[in-house]
Amino acid sequence: MGRREFLIAMSAVVGSFALGISLATAAIAPTLAPLEFTVNGRRTRLDLDPRVTLLDALREGLGLTGTKKGCDHGQCGACTVLVNGRRINSCLSLAATHHGDEVVTIEGLQHPIQAAFLHHDGFQCGYCTPGQVCSAVAMLEELRRGTPSYVTPDLQKTPVLSKAEVRERMSGNICRCGAYPGIVAAIMEAGA
Ligand code: FES
Ligand code: FES
Repeated sequence: MGRREFLIAMSAVVGSFALGISLATAAIAPTLAPLEFTVNGRRTRLDLDPRVTLLDALREGLGLTGTKKGCDHGQCGACTVLVNGRRINSCLSLAATHHGDEVVTIEGLQHPIQAAFLHHDGFQCGYCTPGQVCSAVAMLEELRRGTPSYVTPDLQKTPVLSKAEVRERMSGNICRCGAYPGIVAAIMEAGA
């Protein structure tokens, strides 16, 4: 093979290699999905990879880093936010499923429970606290609606606020600092 034929053959090889790369890139590039929802009272739009969790959309997409990532597996409750008034683990929920929803994070929350956490030292390092506070707000609302828990003694009667109810209903929120006595006291005060 002469020099000219060799160069033509090599450029064909390089060209097909580059085409392969661009086709592969096109094949794995995610299609972005539009998400419109309300976050802390503000209408918000994001274009997201549909595989992004609500937690990552809030933290990385909107800069709302008050919501914490602890386990990222639904086991610690650090990522708890309110969606349409109910508490969820945002690490377990895909952001794309929240089109039209109302999301409240710790940054948008205004509730007496926050002062009660301060009053009772319901935290130490504070990492779990945003999740604890959001969870506590929803927990008190669940109690107010009469939703029973595993420790409600009589399912025929409206459950009442007690330390046992608080501990059971807050059992999805882990505190590595062990600030549980202050957390329970704060919720008892705010719910009273
Ligand atoms: Fe979501 Fe732990 S980070 S439950
Ligand atoms: Fe440190 Fe709860 S205050 S993990």
